[in-house]
Amino acid sequence: MNPTALRHPEEPALAGVSKDALPRPFDIAAIRAQFPILSRQVNGRPLVYLDSAASSQKVQPCIDAMVHSMTHSYSNVHRGLHTLANETTEAYEAARESVTRFVNAPSSRQIVFTKGATEAINLVAASLGLQLQPGDEILVSELEHHANIIPWHFLRERKGVVLRFMPVRDDGSIDLEAGLKLIGPKTKVVALSHMSNVTGAVLDPAPVIAAARTVGALTLLDGCQAVVHLPVDVQALGCDFYVFSGHKLFGPTGIGALYGREDALAQLAPYQGGGEMIGSVAMDAISYADPPHRFEAGTPPILEAVGWGAALDWLMAQDRGAIAAHEHALYARSVERLSGCNWLRILGTTPDKGAILSFEVEGAHAHDVAQLLDRYGVAVRAGTHCAEPLMRRFGVTSSARASFALYNTLEEADAFADALIKARSFFA
Ligand SMILES: Cc1ncc(COP(=O)(O)O)c(C=O)c1O
Repeated sequence: MNPTALRHPEEPALAGVSKDALPRPFDIAAIRAQFPILSRQVNGRPLVYLDSAASSQKVQPCIDAMVHSMTHSYSNVHRGLHTLANETTEAYEAARESVTRFVNAPSSRQIVFTKGATEAINLVAASLGLQLQPGDEILVSELEHHANIIPWHFLRERKGVVLRFMPVRDDGSIDLEAGLKLIGPKTKVVALSHMSNVTGAVLDPAPVIAAARTVGALTLLDGCQAVVHLPVDVQALGCDFYVFSGHKLFGPTGIGALYGREDALAQLAPYQGGGEMIGSVAMDAISYADPPHRFEAGTPPILEAVGWGAALDWLMAQDRGAIAAHEHALYARSVERLSGCNWLRILGTTPDKGAILSFEVEGAHAHDVAQLLDRYGVAVRAGTHCAEPLMRRFGVTSSARASFALYNTLEEADAFADALIKARSFFA
């Protein structure tokens, strides 16, 4: 592989990535060497893994850290008085520090470990639900992942709050002009995706956060996709809550984080009860630990936190601007290679989108397309992508999705386009 072929000085930056950070050489071979799974074959062909938006592959430092913990230094965390308990607690809390640095949170006290973004949103919704009144409004958008719709639907069903949806434009971005008009005195929460997992559209959260603040509403950003591709600074964003998952960030499953502004976290009631989240317990009274431990009842995902921390430390040592340019080039290359295909409809066409290519093939079900691509070793996702309202908005029941990550190559983008063109010939 010729690494110079993977330099992309002319590619525009993604939203949020400074153009000054470009151009830079990008050593794709060195990156790929950190992901052992990428050397495997699928159906007799080299694996082309284009499903990272669903879950990314695992980086070697993450694997090493988890194995090290299991083989050398493992125990339950907190309140241990022996060496292994202390070492494991240190490793667990060091992982929290890594997450803190990754999103530039002011303090690790503002990072709650959860089992993923889904649990983080459920935590916020369930806790806020205790304070909301019938008729209060929660504002999401039509492009949200179900993880950022259903916890709020629970409050509609159980508390009589009103769930409102910002509309989505034909290009797959949230229509902020219309959406901002929905923010009013009854709005209590505005919860939006920072980057769509279907259209790749990147939200500019600033006007939303400013408008929500004027009416005293809390803001939550679902950063599951954005945080993988953009440098995220929660202090600069100014949102109240930011949620994301470890398994999309080259780390393990079963771990994610809720960032909260200090006063926003302080007003949340505990979500689950159990060990480690209390101050003291009596027969007739209870007091709670301070955040973040207040929200981490029971034995936490210790190994997963340690592995995730190592994955984030690795990612933070990479050139994020160069990664963003590389991913954008992969997306652009696929689109260019497929540009003459009048049977292809791309869902999401905003120019500054992330490297997610959702598409519909005329005359073919998305599941069949994905299965045919798999024959060529190309892994893409097909279905609703947990975004049924958005599928309805686009008038489709499902779509296929190729999502690119830092470890994909231009050759893989070509292999995907070639395989798709061949797959289409089965339906023509
Ligand atoms: C935008 C978005 N939000 C939320 C989620 C849910 O994340 P998890 O399943 O890791 O909790 C996903 C996962 O695909 C996602 O893409």
